Amino acid sequence: MPARKIIIDTDPGQDDAVAILLALASPEEIDVLGITAVAGNVPLSLTQKNARIVCELAGKPDTKVFAGCDAPIARKLVTAEHVHGKTGLDGPTLPDPEMELTDGHAVDFIIDTLRAEPEGTVTLCPLGPLTNIATALTKAPDIASRIQEIVLMGGAYFEVGNITPTAEFNIYVDPEAAKIVFACGAPITVMPLDVTHKALVTKPRNDAFRALGTPVGVAVAEMTDFFERFDKEKYGSQGAPLHDPCVTAYLIKPELFTGRHINVEIETCSDLTLGMTVADWWRVSGREPNATFMGDIDADGFFDLLTERLARL
Ligand code: BDR
Ligand code: CA
Repeated sequence: MPARKIIIDTDPGQDDAVAILLALASPEEIDVLGITAVAGNVPLSLTQKNARIVCELAGKPDTKVFAGCDAPIARKLVTAEHVHGKTGLDGPTLPDPEMELTDGHAVDFIIDTLRAEPEGTVTLCPLGPLTNIATALTKAPDIASRIQEIVLMGGAYFEVGNITPTAEFNIYVDPEAAKIVFACGAPITVMPLDVTHKALVTKPRNDAFRALGTPVGVAVAEMTDFFERFDKEKYGSQGAPLHDPCVTAYLIKPELFTGRHINVEIETCSDLTLGMTVADWWRVSGREPNATFMGDIDADGFFDLLTERLARL
């Protein structure tokens, strides 16, 4: 099978960084056409820079990185420095990037790529708020039918919320964008908190990254050490969830994940439940399925894959 062509849309973020590293370490399965940065965990000025830092850490400075939208479609940006630190990549000390941003807007790159590549051959991998993807779909509705699949990290059903009692961060930051994406008609696969809260970086798993002894292994361990402090305290768990790499791991080993093809709608009106993913897990609504909503992960298999692939960089 030829490598799957993907665009990673991201707001790095330490877990975004690990997702990008996993993709760049896996050229047999994944061909990264470009990385599009969006405002989310930290403002766009930092996410676009962090994306380039990560490409250089991976030894892939030729990767195209585009800057995208700096604010949600209809709301003020909410960021997550309380989790990811001031830079978004707090933890390791990494040099400022030498590689430049690629010219052009991320949204235009998404549109142009989907129009230029054969229909059904490009997968979008959103790891942050869905602003860039929704803006592309609004500007160029013809691209929806050209998308092979959208594999995204966002939402929750059983785990409900992490930024509010009922909403997951990526969906909450730009619920209007999420609504557009979930209604676009392209095949969608969702990695919600229900999955990522089972992908916990326990101490032995983080020690395995550090034991790689490479700049990548050590940086990933230090990133994880940093953001773990917040989640471990919050959840009282053995380690913090490694959310975004579930997306890129799915492209390499889909058998690590199980879920249901169901209807998922986004709440955009209620103050109390804004950004909630109303997932019809029990199929009681009669609404048409529009997404494969994952519910479980083989966590040991996931961390084995990550450690094996990160060792290549
Ligand atoms: C998501 O929010 C961000 O903080 C993480 O990078 C991840 O994409 C988890 O809710
Ligand atoms: Ca993210």
